[in-house]
Amino acid sequence: MAKLDERIGFIGGGNMAFAIGSGLIGRGIVKPSQVLTSGPHIENLARWREIGAGTTDENNEVVEHTDIIFICVKPHMLEPCTTALKNTYVPSAKDGNKLFISVLAGTTVKSLEDKLTFFGSSEIKIIRTMPNTSMQIGEGCTVYTGNSHVTHQDLEKVHLMLNSLGVAQQVPETMIDAISGLSGCGPAFVYTIIEALADGGVKQGVPRQMALQFAAQTLLGAAKTVLLTGKHPAVLRDEVCSPGGSTIVGVHELEKGNLRATLINAVEKSAQRSAELGKK
Ligand SMILES: NC(=O)c1ccc[n+]([C@@H]2O[C@H](COP(=O)([O-])OP(=O)(O)OC[C@H]3O[C@@H](n4cnc5c(N)ncnc54)[C@H](OP(=O)(O)O)[C@@H]3O)[C@@H](O)[C@H]2O)c1
Repeated sequence: MAKLDERIGFIGGGNMAFAIGSGLIGRGIVKPSQVLTSGPHIENLARWREIGAGTTDENNEVVEHTDIIFICVKPHMLEPCTTALKNTYVPSAKDGNKLFISVLAGTTVKSLEDKLTFFGSSEIKIIRTMPNTSMQIGEGCTVYTGNSHVTHQDLEKVHLMLNSLGVAQQVPETMIDAISGLSGCGPAFVYTIIEALADGGVKQGVPRQMALQFAAQTLLGAAKTVLLTGKHPAVLRDEVCSPGGSTIVGVHELEKGNLRATLINAVEKSAQRSAELGKK
């Protein structure tokens, strides 16, 4: 797999940042010594130090010493974070080459351009992404879009990084909130489904650990079958529902419980909430 020579920064070292940073290090895309992460509480960045990355409680050090900078704070923290940077960051001639990558839900490219004004270049390069935490194990989903200053080479580097941690796709910005509801928030929906399937197993007498393992493996197997065969999930479902059999009885229960409508609603509400978060 190709490697990057650039230094990678993270402003905010929480769950999403760690999923990306540890994933990039774990996959060998960058060496730990190329990574620098900042956050207000240095003690909360211990896991970064454990994987060999540098840490600091000064965001301006990350901007100064790295080339590709992931912004990984909560959307409502963007404003205080960039305002503080305006007071501390000393602009440099090299600023124009730096690339900012936002993972913030709902926060538009325009809003990022308006807020990242601490910088020495008016032509700031910005990529907006919507990743998910499964990137930590190389099975993530990320969409991304760039502003007008981002070059083809920048997009190639971003694609290399994000795609090495799962699948990545460039999309129009208008699609990003929808993807946020689907795959950004989706892992939480699926964890709930796994837990519920396991509970069903436990209710029928399967030991808890085994029930969890089999529930998760069942999802993994079904997901891989969809991806590898290219068959529509409804076709695959029909294939396992023999007439008068046990599976169709269970599928009927899912329909009575509105599983499909509930998941559609969950994606819709999460997408709407993502868009709202960026407006606050
Ligand atoms: N988690 C997901 O599944 C997911 C998926 C897609 C996108 N996202 C996006 O990822 C972003 C981060 O979410 P998260 O789940 O990773 O949240 P999180 O775990 O709470 O991480 C946020 C981090 O920001 C740090 N922080 C707070 N104020 C800061 C400041 N002024 N400067 C630098 N760092 C600061 C926090 O440090 P302290 O804890 O020390 O205060 C914390 O480590 C959000 O914008 C979210 O929309 C998350």
